[in-house]
Formats: sequence, structure tokens, C-alpha cells
Amino acid sequence: MDAQKMRETYIDFFKERGHAQISSAPLVPENDPTVLFTTAGMHPLVPYLLGERHPAGKRLTDFQKCVRTGDIDEVGDASHLTFFEMLGNWSLGDYFKQESVEWSYDLLTKVLGIDQDHLAVTCFKGEEGIPRDDETAGLWRSHGMRDDQIFFYGREDNWWGPAGQTGPCGPDTEIFYDDGRPKCGPDCGPSCHCGKYTEIWNNVFMEYNKQADGTFIPLAQKNVDTGMGLERILRVLNGVETVYDTPLFSGIIRRIEDLSGKEYGKDPEDVRSFRVVADHLRAATFMLGDGVVPAKVGQGYILRRLIRRASRYLSKLGVEDVCMKSISEVVISEYSKAYPELERNREFILTNLSAEEEKFHKTLTKGLRRFNEMIAESGDTEVLDGAAVFRLYDTFGFPVELTRELASEQGKKVDEDDFNNRFKAHQENSRAGADQQFKGGLADHAVETTKLHTATHLLNAALRKFVSPDIQQKGSNITAERLRFDFNLDRKVTPEELAEIERYVNEAIQAGIPVVCEEMTYQEAKDRGAIGVFTDKYGEKVKVYTIGDVSCEICGGPHVKNTSELQGFKIKKEESSAAGVRRIKAVVGRFD
Ligand code: ALA
Repeated sequence: MDAQKMRETYIDFFKERGHAQISSAPLVPENDPTVLFTTAGMHPLVPYLLGERHPAGKRLTDFQKCVRTGDIDEVGDASHLTFFEMLGNWSLGDYFKQESVEWSYDLLTKVLGIDQDHLAVTCFKGEEGIPRDDETAGLWRSHGMRDDQIFFYGREDNWWGPAGQTGPCGPDTEIFYDDGRPKCGPDCGPSCHCGKYTEIWNNVFMEYNKQADGTFIPLAQKNVDTGMGLERILRVLNGVETVYDTPLFSGIIRRIEDLSGKEYGKDPEDVRSFRVVADHLRAATFMLGDGVVPAKVGQGYILRRLIRRASRYLSKLGVEDVCMKSISEVVISEYSKAYPELERNREFILTNLSAEEEKFHKTLTKGLRRFNEMIAESGDTEVLDGAAVFRLYDTFGFPVELTRELASEQGKKVDEDDFNNRFKAHQENSRAGADQQFKGGLADHAVETTKLHTATHLLNAALRKFVSPDIQQKGSNITAERLRFDFNLDRKVTPEELAEIERYVNEAIQAGIPVVCEEMTYQEAKDRGAIGVFTDKYGEKVKVYTIGDVSCEICGGPHVKNTSELQGFKIKKEESSAAGVRRIKAVVGRFD
């Protein structure tokens, strides 16, 4: 089974059961400061799981690009990935457990042909005042699943969400592929990590909303949120050992073979390097395709880490030349049918990827020079000072594994304890920074982010009016404090233009213009002259927000009811964001 066939099979199955297909949302959530990346298909649907009406209806299905960065250092084994695709179907207060179980069972056994004996399922065993899910277990039995295929676990294993600190969540039923090997011990089951069981699908019965104070309150509507890992189902259906042996990776790995002159799988030492490069550059291509550029913080920092780590593993494979572009080209050509934004942003992706790769090569050169000085300074001592090694890592971005390796070639060692202490202290500092970012939650910041969202539309309109009608959004990020808007332009916005934009937006705010939301098809929105990303692949309905004759834009919302709520608008910064892309940061409020 190839990837596109699997995506289509899944979507068609749920379309036949009344679901509307929706597009994959961008990897960077546009107005949710609680997470860095979209980590699951449900993430862009949070407002609708909480009760807002979705323009496409109560039954939805999609394939969603996702990034999880919890264990970057684990990538290289058989199963960890940073980027993956999730096939999903949702009921927004419509069907519940019965249909959800029946359809999962039918798709897996009748359409995809998986032998029922190879399935195992888990249900919530009941904990913390939330009852045991005997209903779901009964439904599985009604389809012929035996008791020895049904397992009960607690909160740790059979509960999903919220994606950030607060939001929709609930007990789930998870579906595993059992490869038929004997159990590794008496307690072996789906939650065991021996490899016998692979989770392929998770059906979450989202009935609760987790509050900032940690309590759960029942949601007004009962939802179903499911996610099937595309990489994993392809692994099962193709009967291969790892996700890297599926068609999703074959082209990418072939290109790495061409570049390195090595064969994947031949030397076990190289296998890990192949996988790291393949995973990281696939993820990096998608991040760049959604407008992320390498940076010191936030999403850009994760991207930078991935590119640097890939560079390191390419050199382990003996590839010393700048070559990432050529690997990224394979990703773009193989994934563009499902994700046309890759092809649309091809130049942007390749230019920024190569620039970062070249920069890191220079970093390595500088780091090497510093390393050689360190060796000279160390004289006869065998152990390299932890502080110096940490500086090399922190200032030059020089990976510590490399320092270790080079040191051992000189018969020297790194003071590991000292280095680790410094590293830990540094990590705690940056984690404290990250926690700040995750503090609160969607709901707590809702008022401010809503205002900034509307301000972004006004800014976009003003840029098109005063700077260039060709301006298009390349990225948008909103926190409770400020908006950040990236757009295509190959020069600075002049101070005069900035002043004019600020004046225009403030006039629109003072005029107290109503913000009107309407639902329509993409075609109707286009005919109306709305701006926004037109990805009409599925004849979807969209929301169009109109602000008088100032702005008309396709957008998921939310927005204020009237521009006067913004009170005032101020541009804080205009800067370059990437090649051919400028960035404006701005705030709203009273400034007198
Ligand atoms: N949201 C659920 C998951 O990510 C389906 O597993």
C-alpha cells in the first residue's frame, strides 16, 4: 500500500459515512500560544470540540501534518519520528462510541484486510471518579473481539489530552496491531514496550474540558476525536520492520544512498544516521514550507536543531558537501500531491535550508579551530575542562558528541560530570522559558489574542494598500502580548510607509467598524475578492471575515465584533525574517 492510496482510502471511507474532508492545518498553530507545533489532528479543532459550530458540519475527516519534539534525541531507533501524519475522523457532538468502534473495526478488518486475530484493544479502567468504560469493551465484543484481546488500563495509558495545559480531553480506546509473537512475560500487553504490539489508532471520547486549576468539567457536547498514524499503518500493511522501510521514506533514503555512496541497512553503524537524516530533513522541509525559519527561539530553534543534527549525521555518513537541498527536493516532489504548499514554497524552503546548512558548516569550522586551541591549552592533562567544552557547545553550537569523539582521537576525555551539570542548569533555564510560554492556556488569553487576530487582518490590508498589492501572508503568530506577521517583500518597509500603515489601522479602529463573519464556499469567497490561502481541494465551506471596505479575508477566527474593541494599534518592529520575507510585530491597546 502506498501513502497516497492509504490517505485516500481512509478519507473515502469516512466520506461515505457522512464526513466532510477538511484541509491539513499549518504546522504552526496560528493563534494558539500554548503549543509550538500542531501535535495532533485535533489541535486545530479545539474551538469546535468546545462547542463552536464548524462550517463543514459535525462529521469531519482529514490527514494532518504533525510535529512532536519531545524526544528528538530518540530519533534513529525503529519508531521515533519528529514529523508524522495523522489520519483522523471527528464527531463534534454527533455520533459517539458505537459508530466510532464499528467504523474503526470495519475499516481495519474489512477494507484494509487486517486479520482480527492480529488486533488488540484497550479501554479505560476507571479512575479518579471517571467510570470504567465497559460500554466500549462491550462494543468490541459485539464485533467478535475475544476477552484476551481486550485490555483495561488507567489514566496513564487510556486517557488523551489536553494537547496544551487546558482543553478538551477524555478516556480513549486504543487499537493495536499484535504481530503474533509470544508474549514476553505474564504482564505483556499493549502497554508493554517489547515490540509485540504497535498502536495504530486512538479513538478518544472527548467528554471533558480540563481547566487551568487542574479540574475536569463535562463538556456540553460529547465528541469523538481519532488519530491513526499513517507511518505505522503503512508499516503494518506492508509487513515491514520499521516506519523507515515504508514507501514514505524509500525515495528519501535512496537519495541519501546516492549522496553518501552507502547502502541503507548494510552496515548497522550507518542505519541510525540514515534514519536521523531522513526524519529530520523531512520535518525541516515541512516546517520551512509553513514559513518557519531557523532562529534562536521557538519553532525556529527546533528547526535549527534538526538541521544541525542532520548535518552532523550526514558527515557521519561521509557526506561533507552541502547537500540538504537535494534531499529536501525529494520530500517536496513526493509529498506535494497531499501538501501542495511544499511545491508553492519550493524556493523559500530550499533557499533557507541551504543557508542554514552553510552557516552550520562555518560554525563547525570555527568550532574546530576553538577545539584545537583547547587541546593545545590542555597540555598534558587528559581531561578537558567541562566549562570549556560547554562554551564550545553553547557559543559555537558545537555538538558535544563531536567534542567527545575528537577528544578521544587525541587520547583525551571530556569532564562529563562538570559538562552535564552545566548542561542541566542551562536546560532548566530554557525549560523555565518554555514553561512561561505554555503557562495559562487558550481560554485565558482569548480576549487579547482575539483582538490581535483582528488587528492582523487590518495590518495585512494596510500593507497591501500602501506597500504592495502583491503582499501575501507568509506566517502569523499571536501571543497574548503581540502579533507577528510575516509577508513577502524583498526590501525594508520604509518608516514613512510604517507611519501610514499605523495611521490607517488606527483610523479603522476609531471608525468602530463591525466585523462580519459569513460562511461560504471557496469559490464564493474568491468571487467576493477575499484574500487568504486558497486550497480548495475538497469544496469545503470556509469562514470569511469582512471589516467594512477595509478587509475581506478567509480565516478560522475568532475575531472581535467591532474594531473599536482594539482601542489602538502600534507597530513595534519591522525586520527581515528570511530571504524575501519581512516581519512586523505590533500590539493593540490604549497608548495615551
Ligand atoms: N488526539 C488523539 C491522538 O493524538 C487522537 O492520539
